[in-house]
Amino acid sequence: MKKALITGITGQDGSYLTELLLSKGYEIHGIVRHVALEHPQARMWRIRHLLDRIHIHSASMESYASIFNIIAEIKPDECYHLAAQSYVSYSFEDEFSTINTNLNGTHYVLSSLKRQAPDCRFYFAASSEMFGKVKETPQTEETPFHPRSPYGISKMAGFELTRNYREGYGLFALSGILFNHESPRRGGEFVTRKISSSAAKIKLGLEKKIRLGNLQAKRDWGHAKDYVNAMWLMLQQDEPEDYVIASGISHSVEEFLEAAFNYVDLDYRDHLVLDENLYRPAEVKLLQGDASNARKNLNWSPTISFEELVKEMVEGDLEWYAK
Ligand code: GDD
Repeated sequence: MKKALITGITGQDGSYLTELLLSKGYEIHGIVRHVALEHPQARMWRIRHLLDRIHIHSASMESYASIFNIIAEIKPDECYHLAAQSYVSYSFEDEFSTINTNLNGTHYVLSSLKRQAPDCRFYFAASSEMFGKVKETPQTEETPFHPRSPYGISKMAGFELTRNYREGYGLFALSGILFNHESPRRGGEFVTRKISSSAAKIKLGLEKKIRLGNLQAKRDWGHAKDYVNAMWLMLQQDEPEDYVIASGISHSVEEFLEAAFNYVDLDYRDHLVLDENLYRPAEVKLLQGDASNARKNLNWSPTISFEELVKEMVEGDLEWYAK
């Protein structure tokens, strides 16, 4: 039985990836922060239904010793490093902790694998945020990076570190450059879930308004379930290689808003409040990925459309807030 170690297992991607790997017969080990064990209701709701089938370990991405000890004990066959401070907006407020945690955490995992499980295959959750002020559209694995946030910088540094462990120490280490991926399990601070939950709450009479920032920003949105499948496929190849994972279609925030409110027969213009404070100091205006390499080498392509994604998210929130 293959052993997989997942950092960030309590997040959206961690929960879908755990379901996928369990269905493939893996033994799953997940790293969580101590605070998650103290508040399982609030912190582990996405994996509550899986807890009796997985092994949970408490560690901090800020402590090399805690990561090292877990890796020495488990000696995983595959490691999916998903843990990060992943909210771009917050990274402008606390750039030091975002960069320190995201970069050091990645470094601690890679270094521990090198010493304790050098044959383990390593996946790093890189991000389309690394393209930032994009040099070309659509973006591919060859597009130069120009990150526009401390978060993007931390991911770019993690990407380079992963490449260096591959090239310098011979680890089977690679990065998935994932474009935005959403689901009903998305955190409420991200724009899609903010919109789907507001559409539901307004429909149910629980709220009247939604406050948003830049409506013109465009993102290439896919479904997280499709994207975790790509993570697994990357680690099953003969050679480690970095891949762009994207739907290839971009929509503006306004288009997502319109689609979500239309789904519940509301006109978003009746409820929208534009809030300058929600604009970012430096914005990524347009992201659109070209996943041709993944299509060709991994036989991967997205199965869930933008419209299906919006519908699933709004329906999920209608059910959630009707309780
Ligand atoms: N969160 C948020 N809240 N975003 C808003 C709002 C708002 O009220 N109003 C407008 N936006 C715009 C942001 O300015 C941004 O252009 C866009 O909506 C998407 O924002 P997020 O959903 O917060 O996601 P993100 O694109 O910044 O980052 C996500 O995708 C990356 C992959 O490209 C995160 O999941 C990152 O962790 C991930 O790496």
